[in-house]
Amino acid sequence: MNRVAVMHGVNLDMLGRRDPAVYGSQTLAELESAVTGFAAELELEVGFFQTNFEGEFVEHLHGLRETADGILLNPGAWTHYSWAIHDALEIAGLPAVEVHLSAVERREEWRRVSVIGDLCLATVSGQGVDGYREGLVRLRRGIEG
Ligand code: DQA
Repeated sequence: MNRVAVMHGVNLDMLGRRDPAVYGSQTLAELESAVTGFAAELELEVGFFQTNFEGEFVEHLHGLRETADGILLNPGAWTHYSWAIHDALEIAGLPAVEVHLSAVERREEWRRVSVIGDLCLATVSGQGVDGYREGLVRLRRGIEG
């Protein structure tokens, strides 16, 4: 079974306390439980990771080559400016899909920039939790070639 690393970055542990009109009312644990269900349906194995520390996010990416076949990532605000995460994703060298709960392309100007987009097979945004299902579908296609 293909293994997918699902990575959440800064402030995503605060889902449930962040603006529900933008991010939905689910907690991260509830989101991860929904993703586990999507993965089972798609015959993918998933592992979860969240941190508010950029260096930890980078180090987790460094370790994925041996433990995962693809990466589904929502780096939160780091998406918009962290070249360190861009480079670590490049080093990981695995198929990756970027996902955002909110419609980043319709929000503030600075959220419309993604520094990891060029390394990702697809970007899914504005679909809330269901976007993770779409992200897994796109990733599975990329892994299977
Ligand atoms: C987010 C969008 C980012 O702009 C924001 O900083 C987040 C969450 C999303 O899932 O919609 O923390 O990645």
